[in-house]
Amino acid sequence: MKIIGTGSALPKKVVTNDDLAQFLDTSDEWILPRTGIRSRHVITDERLEDLGKDAALLALKDAGLTPGDIDLFICSNVVNEYLTPSLSCVISAAIGMHCPAIDINCACPGFIYAMDIAENYFLAGKVSNVLIVCAEEPTRMTSWTDRSTCVLFGDGAGAAVFTKGDNVKAIKLNSQPSVIHLYETRPLLPTPFITRHETEQPLHMDGREVFKFAVSTSLRDIEEILRKTGTSVDEIDFFMIHQANLRIIEGIRRGLGAPESKFPSNIYDHGNSSSASCPILLDECNRKGLFKRGDKLVFSAFGAGLLSAVAFLEW
Ligand code: UT7
Repeated sequence: MKIIGTGSALPKKVVTNDDLAQFLDTSDEWILPRTGIRSRHVITDERLEDLGKDAALLALKDAGLTPGDIDLFICSNVVNEYLTPSLSCVISAAIGMHCPAIDINCACPGFIYAMDIAENYFLAGKVSNVLIVCAEEPTRMTSWTDRSTCVLFGDGAGAAVFTKGDNVKAIKLNSQPSVIHLYETRPLLPTPFITRHETEQPLHMDGREVFKFAVSTSLRDIEEILRKTGTSVDEIDFFMIHQANLRIIEGIRRGLGAPESKFPSNIYDHGNSSSASCPILLDECNRKGLFKRGDKLVFSAFGAGLLSAVAFLEW
């Protein structure tokens, strides 16, 4: 498959580190050097499905397609208002799309997991065009009294349209299953029969463990797919790394020995938008005209699960 269109949508409200310092024991001096984040877009009156819809329509327009041209719609999402139907069905209803619709919850690497599913549908000859939308509102998952998590996240949606092609060179999905390092729980509705105790736990993250996992698996798997495809680091034009922390991106960059110019980043004014981060970055780079046909792009993302994934494709 190959990418023929991208889109993204962000909430209008921008919250700076200084805004956070108004009600949290934190500061721009702590957040910026440790994360690379100065501000983030945060949902106020928007609905996540509307951001997903806007990103989808922009990607379809960029691809020169209509909803009726799409054969498969994959939506990556961790949390939204609807437990059912799936967010992909909610967005499909909003844009009048009638193809099979699947949601996946693979946390931050969701875009790459979705690409892997899509690529296999193409290889099976079952589809001509696939739409992927990653829509996330992680600011609704954290406790806003927990300074170690809430300062990191921002909301948004990113989308990409794929058609037949031979541009995907390799994808590697990875899991190192562990619940305790990164999780959130919420009680379900009570029943007359339930006897076990259920707790509400806002997003809990062992930052250092996740940091180490991110850098080590990303480096290992990027090097593996480059080795397997006989490609050198120098031949890659852009490394599209999940925007979780600028120091993680720096760790990966130094490990690969690649120049900063090959690592586009928007974390400064976006924060971490979970699986939406890679397709939002992709769309912003695309709209700036950063890519030319044939450019070699490597994606890498990591997060809850613990899951991670890398993909190597040509623009
Ligand atoms: O997308 C999902 C994947 N997630 C990630 O990739 C996140 C990976 N982890 C990280 O990015 C980093 O570990 C963090 C940015 C989350 C934290 O950075 P750190 O350098 O590992 O800091 P820390 O958690 O070890 O905390 C250091 C200190 C602590 O104080 P003490 O115990 O040393 O006195 C924290 O209480 O910094 C304190 N602290 C803060 N201080 C001011 C933690 N958060 C804040 C804050 N403002 N927002």
